Amino acid sequence: MKKGEQLYEGKAKKVFATDNEDYVIVDYKDDATAFNGLKKGTIVGKGVVNNRVSNHLFKMLEGKGIPTHFVEEISERETIVKSVKIVPIEVIVRNIAAGSLSKRLGIPEGTHLAHTVLEYCYKDDELGDPMINEYHAYAMELATPEELGKIADMSFKVNQYLGEYLKTMNIELIDFKLEFGRFKGDIILADEISPDTCRFWDTRTGEKLDKDRFRRDLGNVEEAYQEILHRLMGGEK
Ligand code: C5P
Repeated sequence: MKKGEQLYEGKAKKVFATDNEDYVIVDYKDDATAFNGLKKGTIVGKGVVNNRVSNHLFKMLEGKGIPTHFVEEISERETIVKSVKIVPIEVIVRNIAAGSLSKRLGIPEGTHLAHTVLEYCYKDDELGDPMINEYHAYAMELATPEELGKIADMSFKVNQYLGEYLKTMNIELIDFKLEFGRFKGDIILADEISPDTCRFWDTRTGEKLDKDRFRRDLGNVEEAYQEILHRLMGGEK
C-alpha cells in the first residue's frame, strides 16, 4: 500500500492517505502534550512504544471479538488502519479513583471504586473536552442512542479484557480513554490504547507507568514507557 499525502496532524500522531480509500496510515510522534496543550515536551521513543503497544492490545481485543480499526503494522512508528469517521466523544472508563475524578469529587487517588465509572467528554479542544452525558450526545447529534449503547457495551468489555490481560503482567488498569469510529455502517474501536491514554500502575509497588510521569514531572518518563512495552511484548521482539 502506498503512503500518500498527509491528511491531518494531531498532538501525538500524523495521518496519511493511502491508495485505498478505506485505509489510512497513522504515524506516531514523540511529541507529548498535557493539560489541553498547555504543557509541551518530547518523550524520546514514545511514538514507537505507543504504536507497538496499541497494536498489540488491539490485536488482543480483536481476538476477544471487539472490532477495531487495526489492519497492519508497517514500521515501528507506522500502522495501516481503517479510515473511520471519529465519533466526537471521548469515553473514559475508571476502576480506581485518580486524576480529574479525584479532583472533582474529592476521592483520594488510589481509592477502589465500588462500581466502574463511564464518562463521556465532547471532543473539542477549544472547549477543553467538556464532560457530557448521553442526553447531550443525542441533543448535539454526536451519536444515536443505538450507537452510544454499542459504545458503552464495548467500553465495558474492553475494560474487562484489558484489565484481566494487564493483571497477568502486574499492571493495574486504573482508568483509560477510548475513541470510536464509524466504518461501513459499524461502530469500531479507533485511536490508540497506550501509556498516553491509560493510567497503568505497577500492582506490586504502585509505581506509575504512564503519562502522569510527564504531566506531573515525576521523572523516568521514557523508562516507564519502555517498561510497559517490555512487559507487554514479553519474549516477542
Ligand atoms: O485526566 P483524567 O483523570 O480525566 O483522565 C482519565 C483517563 O483518560 C487517563 O487515563 C488519561 O490518560 C485519559 N485521557 C486521555 N485523553 C484525554 C483525557 C483523558 O487519554 N483528552
